[in-house]
Amino acid sequence: MLSYKRDHYCGLLTEAQAGQTVHLSGWVQRTRDLGGVVFVWLRDREGLVQLVFDTSVCSQEIFDLGRALRSEYVVTVQGEVRLRAENAINRDLATGTIEVFVQDAVLLNKSETPPIYIDDKVDESELVRLKYRYLDLRRPSMQEKLRLRSKVVNCIRYALDDEGFTEVETPILSKSTPEGARDFLVPSRLHPGTFYALPQSPQIYKQLLMLAGFDKYYQIARCFRDEDNRADRQPEFTQCDIEMSFIDEENIYSVVENVFARIFREVKGIDLPLPLPRMTWIDAMENYGSDKPDTRFGMKLVNLTEKLGHTGFVVFDSAMENGGRVEAINAKGLASMTRKEIDSYGEFVKTYRAKGLPYMTFTADGNVKSSFNKFMTPELIETVRTQMQAEPGDIVFFAADKRSVVWQALGALRCEIARRHEMIDHNAYHLFWVTEFPLFEYSEEEGRYVAAHHPFTSWYPEDNCYLDSDKEKVRSRAYDLVMNGIELASGSIRIHRADMQAQMFDMIGLSHEEAHHRFGFLLDAFKYGAPPHGGLAFGIDRLVMLLTDSDSLRDIIAFPKATSANCLMMDTPADVRPDQLETLRIKIDLPQQDS
Ligand code: AMO
Ligand code: AMP
Repeated sequence: MLSYKRDHYCGLLTEAQAGQTVHLSGWVQRTRDLGGVVFVWLRDREGLVQLVFDTSVCSQEIFDLGRALRSEYVVTVQGEVRLRAENAINRDLATGTIEVFVQDAVLLNKSETPPIYIDDKVDESELVRLKYRYLDLRRPSMQEKLRLRSKVVNCIRYALDDEGFTEVETPILSKSTPEGARDFLVPSRLHPGTFYALPQSPQIYKQLLMLAGFDKYYQIARCFRDEDNRADRQPEFTQCDIEMSFIDEENIYSVVENVFARIFREVKGIDLPLPLPRMTWIDAMENYGSDKPDTRFGMKLVNLTEKLGHTGFVVFDSAMENGGRVEAINAKGLASMTRKEIDSYGEFVKTYRAKGLPYMTFTADGNVKSSFNKFMTPELIETVRTQMQAEPGDIVFFAADKRSVVWQALGALRCEIARRHEMIDHNAYHLFWVTEFPLFEYSEEEGRYVAAHHPFTSWYPEDNCYLDSDKEKVRSRAYDLVMNGIELASGSIRIHRADMQAQMFDMIGLSHEEAHHRFGFLLDAFKYGAPPHGGLAFGIDRLVMLLTDSDSLRDIIAFPKATSANCLMMDTPADVRPDQLETLRIKIDLPQQDS
């Protein structure tokens, strides 16, 4: 009997094999029974090829087997590759100029009717796709994405190996690291009542590896963060984590740029012009209202606070009196948008805490209208026209509020308008560094300053004078790599002296005792000759998402979590047996559920 060991992939057959006998194995995509002849599309990881069951070539028994095939049956066949007649060529199929006349075949396994079509042209509900992920992964687009991902990881390893980096694995059973999310906890059996934390990143370990003298470290590291799931966030994700000693920002930029250049060249065939551009955090915020600006389109923010001094328009005036700002964006050529659309943007900015969305329309016939007509003097109109470079056909949207609200609202609005009006070039890759982030940010929730990146980040010594008086002015030596409006990487030059680290903990309100309880080992380690060091981590999932133009991280992770951090396929998280809980000395205290 025919073995299932093939000698060719279906999708790789070409006219060059015409006349040869080939042995193929795979899944049935679909069958077409024309009575005297049966056509079957056979699929493997490389694609499809048409099989022909015809009694002039095969026995009646094999023909009957061909007729009985159904979608997703697993078969192995042997047959002759033949050129198709001109009028039978299928231009939609990569192998459409040939077909394989089956001589022998074995049915290896049957399949029930699958709950989804294994076909990229059919839109399936994501819930069903995630429940039957192993079937979803059979789709060519998913295969392609995971293979591209594997290629990206290989590029990273080769590039870093060439630069003399050592890959070191760090523990998964670990202690809380401050990356700003909640920890996933693992109870200890041997030490009841105590817990490991899964690492939010290998941050502290990699710093300790610098102390240990490894000099250039990297790791393809799995990270865990118990935070709300979004399209660009998963509770479990993979970083390329990098750290180096005796270096400054320039060394990090150059290493990472070379890695990215290699990935773009080998995976996308694109030559990334190096060095990558840089933008300071303050410029990013002032121009785009975001620390990860999407620069594939314009619509920059313009600060009109000075110019719109006292118009009598209460919204503008009160923002200014309260130390806030008035800023605007010009949506060029969109003056004819409907009232309904304008209102929907008004609702949209409310989610960013803006109280409203005043606008001014420069109609095509030369008129100017606004939502605050009665405060509009000719001078005000002229100011807006010149400052916003407004022309007939443009519509200008304003935000007046605290700086942070103005930035967030207009920053998000420009992206939303660009998205809805398809102003974004999906073939463009805008990759650049954002530098000089603030060291601290004020946490309304906690009522105190917290580290904007993480508390191991150092700052510019020139800004020491602001440490007590004006914390928001202190610039950290942190940097992000941003691509098409998404934060791909974050890193910093670290604090490497115990006294500065203790000062940092103190400044973010971590008491001496708590600092020692949580990070005593790090403060201790710093006593033994810590070298100056720094690094960064980039999200491999996010990078692959951008390289494949996918909408969600779920599309480029083989077995992702759904939006509420659950796995629909395995049905996790799940309960455990009472005896397991007993061993761990854990009691569950859930409110009674009405049944
Ligand atoms: P940070 O927390 O900014 O920095 O993370 C670095 C990068 O990891 C990716 N990332 C994520 N990807 C998917 N799902 C998530 N939930 C998620 N969270 C983060 C992003 C992000 O830019 N230890 C520091 C790095 C350093 O300082 O060296 C860190 O983890 O692409
Ligand atoms: P981290 O919080 O360090 O895991 O990094 C994740 C990134 O996602 C940060 O740069 C956040 O600013 C960013 N982020 C926060 N909220 C959103 C949001 N609503 N949409 C997209 N990105 C966000």
